[in-house]
Amino acid sequence: MTPQDVQRKTQHVPRLAIESGTMNPRLQDVLDEANKVIVYEGTASEPITYKGELHVGVDLGTAYTVLAVLDESMMPIAGAYRFAQVVRDGVVFDYMGAISVVKALKRQVEQRLGRTIESAAAAYPPGVPLAEVRATGNVLQGAGIECSRLVDEATAASTILQIDNGVVVDVGGGTTKLAVVNGGKVVYTADEPTGGTHFTLVIAGAMHIPFMEAEAMKTNPAEQATLFPAIKAVMEKVATIVSRHVENYHPRRIYLCGGSARFPGMERVIEEVTGIETIIPGEPLFVTPIGIAMNNFAGELAPLR
Ligand SMILES: Nc1ncnc2c1ncn2[C@@H]1O[C@H](COP(=O)(O)OP(=O)(O)OP(=O)(O)O)[C@@H](O)[C@H]1O
Ligand SMILES: [Mg+2]
Repeated sequence: MTPQDVQRKTQHVPRLAIESGTMNPRLQDVLDEANKVIVYEGTASEPITYKGELHVGVDLGTAYTVLAVLDESMMPIAGAYRFAQVVRDGVVFDYMGAISVVKALKRQVEQRLGRTIESAAAAYPPGVPLAEVRATGNVLQGAGIECSRLVDEATAASTILQIDNGVVVDVGGGTTKLAVVNGGKVVYTADEPTGGTHFTLVIAGAMHIPFMEAEAMKTNPAEQATLFPAIKAVMEKVATIVSRHVENYHPRRIYLCGGSARFPGMERVIEEVTGIETIIPGEPLFVTPIGIAMNNFAGELAPLR
């Protein structure tokens, strides 16, 4: 199963009426464009035209490694992603494998851009030891990309949302990351090792099937209603984690992102358990990768060598 298969099988995330002033008014356009350029234009051959400074981000995820490129107006113009198990619980465990995935994504995107990617921002789960943060930067260096900036993943997600008050919750493959925002600033971050991989493991156990088969079932819209009762308890665990971390902050709203937020009904469970209004502010898969790219201010890229 390729990520493209996952993407094609998944439901469309409904567009929300966004109250201007409380969230980035361009958010849905940016996420729609990210979806288009990262997923569907991977095989397009016409050159990409852009001007000015580019911003590149690399997200080394437990399930997906993503490389995203934004133009000077922070609109996605190119990107690539790959299902790769080189990170476990948010921490790089297959160092050489991670380098080769990033190299492959870099090459793919460079062909589209006609330019060399020289620098990028990268991210780590909040709360991991400094050695792990450095390892993330070293993966980029190993792939021939200067790591311009390292930012925690939850803060990166909040960069794109531009909210004034709330909690950004990124439920990825391996971990749940959160950033509490107050007065437009991140005031608290945390991460816990529960994510979409755990949903898949529960399905694999319940159905007595291999992990990858369970992963394919989980991401198939035709199967999701049937699977919901089996994984509701893991969703409730994610919600309990969020409740525990935000109890002293009283956020107005939960902004749910990360690939696991694509499972229908996830936001309802989080809202019921936490008692906090919960929304998915657009296609959730690329919120964090785009937010990471927004943290790269490295300037013009050099011509393709
Ligand atoms: N349509 C879908 N329905 C349910 N789950 C999905 C869907 N699409 C993707 N996922 C799940 O999303 C998870 C991957 O999300 P994401 O790319 O945000 O994680 P990651 O960044 O790789 O992991 P982490 O941030 O934890 O290191 C996987 O567990 C995948 O199964
Ligand atoms: Mg992630």
